[in-house]
Amino acid sequence: MTWLVTGGAGYIGAHVVRAMLQSGQDVVALDDLSTGDPARIPGAELVEGTVLDRALLDRVVKERAVTGVVHIAAKKQVAESVAEPLHYYRENVDGLLTLLEACRAGGVDRFVFSSSAATYGMPDVDLVTEETPKEPMSPYGETKLVGEWLLNACAAAHGLRVMSMRYFNVAGAATPELGDPGIFNLVPLVFQALTAGRRPTVFGTDYPTPDGTCVRDYVHVADIAEAHLAAARALDDGADGATYNIGRGAGSSVLEVIDVIGQVTGLDATPELVDRRPGDPARVVAAVDKIRVGLGFEARYDLTAMVESAWAGWQLRHP
Ligand code: WQD
Repeated sequence: MTWLVTGGAGYIGAHVVRAMLQSGQDVVALDDLSTGDPARIPGAELVEGTVLDRALLDRVVKERAVTGVVHIAAKKQVAESVAEPLHYYRENVDGLLTLLEACRAGGVDRFVFSSSAATYGMPDVDLVTEETPKEPMSPYGETKLVGEWLLNACAAAHGLRVMSMRYFNVAGAATPELGDPGIFNLVPLVFQALTAGRRPTVFGTDYPTPDGTCVRDYVHVADIAEAHLAAARALDDGADGATYNIGRGAGSSVLEVIDVIGQVTGLDATPELVDRRPGDPARVVAAVDKIRVGLGFEARYDLTAMVESAWAGWQLRHP
């Protein structure tokens, strides 16, 4: 039973590869190395290539007798997707389509899909359940929702068993080397500001939340990896597919996150308060009952653990 992990040399993918190898799974990683780095997964088998390369996928599936796929390779920057929708649909939707054709041809019947809370858009609920309406606000979120639809259609038509995993706000690192090299999300942006001697920016303080700043469900990337492992194991044990939120079920405001970053780094994290950033929902927090019941998964790490581990990774990359 071999699992193919696409995007396996990326920030999240490398955590998944590592967790699967540690649990004794036979794993092959595929990565086009556009943002991935082979150094993240020493000792793992890595095929350099893209999910748009059907011939390569056919070869890997056949030669490595792949029985399941964890599909993480994707473009994931919301703003870039607004500017470059064709690129995002090509990479994320065409890539998935090509991969699914190879799965069908090669008899792969297990699939774990990296989806996103971006599929929900601006949810107007306290806790976002898997049934909350999906109204993505960006081409990025659209490609993830289209991906889920495509997978559900393949499940119905071809018996593919699919676990779609909707990540909330991923942060942290299992080890410093595995830290997120991208500086696009709140935690690394605050690190960048603080280490440059600037004040971190808070986008909007007039949201209908307890302190007026946006609330998100931050979840440790090591927990994300454990959830994928649980999904893959369930499929290997014969489970049907399902769609799950992966979060902690707890919200943190922007000010709370910046406060924790100040405590962890020992730096003065007094923020600069500016206007809202367009398109930001006030509150996005996962309901996590479904994944607890369905996969026995519960997040283990809190916000402090995420910030501490992310900070160790930042310091390693910015000595
Ligand atoms: C978090 C909060 C900002 C930077 C995005 C995608 C989502 C998912 C995760 C992939 C927001 C505020 C940020 C700053 C701030 N990606 N902020 N100052 O927007 O919740 O989610 O990444 O699946 O789909 O939309 O994450 O980290 O950008 O922002 O005040 O310098 O921090 O306004 O409220 P977001 P984020």
